[in-house]
Amino acid sequence: MQIIYNSAHLRTVLNEERRKDRLVAFVPTMGNLHEGHLELVKRAKSLADIVVVSIFVNPLQFSTDEDLDKYPRTLSTDKSLLFSEGINTLFVPSETDIFPDGRENQTTVVVPEISSILCGKDRPGHFEGVATIVCKLLNLICPDYALFGEKDYQQLSIIRKLVHDLEFDTKIVAVGTVRDEDGLALSSRNVYLNADERKLAPLIFDTLAHCRDAIACGFDNFLELESHARFKLIESGFLLDYFTILDAHTLAEINEDTTEISILVAARLGETRLIDNVRLSVNTATEWGILAAQ
Ligand code: PAF
Repeated sequence: MQIIYNSAHLRTVLNEERRKDRLVAFVPTMGNLHEGHLELVKRAKSLADIVVVSIFVNPLQFSTDEDLDKYPRTLSTDKSLLFSEGINTLFVPSETDIFPDGRENQTTVVVPEISSILCGKDRPGHFEGVATIVCKLLNLICPDYALFGEKDYQQLSIIRKLVHDLEFDTKIVAVGTVRDEDGLALSSRNVYLNADERKLAPLIFDTLAHCRDAIACGFDNFLELESHARFKLIESGFLLDYFTILDAHTLAEINEDTTEISILVAARLGETRLIDNVRLSVNTATEWGILAAQ
């Protein structure tokens, strides 16, 4: 595995690979790798000859009250994990390499509307930071495929939109959420949970699954489902940012064109903010005609 610390070197290496007609898959990360990241890496390996993994804790996506310095940095364990997965190329740029003119002077990328709802409301500027770094990395690496986890469903939707709107020639591949045995979605933030919080955390997925199953069984009063789920989580000790049922493709209200539903949640346990989501498809448009009219 080659570890590359600067963009110019990475460009040279990848240009050489592309001259040999090799396909490149890219997995962007902020490190502190877990099984969820390794799923992305495995999928990337199945798609391309060269897999580039980046580790960069992007300061642009942290707001002033979120602690950038406290973000877990575990480079040496991350390297070993990627080495065991047989990764070709690890890119670990410095902040000055990524923002040579300083991050304050960086041109930024805004994906409108979809960035200001849900997590965008609670974390102003977060998705602008994500969109900006993802654009920079895609332009630098020019991968055939870029892989993102479905756990960060809003992030995935934003990236799909920016790739479409800005004509990137990269296929975005979504990889399903990896969960612990009790259903808790794997996340770098889970390490912040104390023992009691960790015991309670799987209720997030239980609540999502219950809601999904009720819809699948034909229960169509979404407002009631949402308020029941919110009540259950708040009563159990979560501080709720949102629990909502939306169109999975637009992240807007469900309507007669909805073909897939997404149920999304963000909830805090103590200092730790957890997000999760599930999706289900709608089988017949006519059925939805009836539901949307209610
Ligand atoms: O999902 C993440 O880890 C980050 O938001 C990403 C996509 C690597 C951008 O910094």
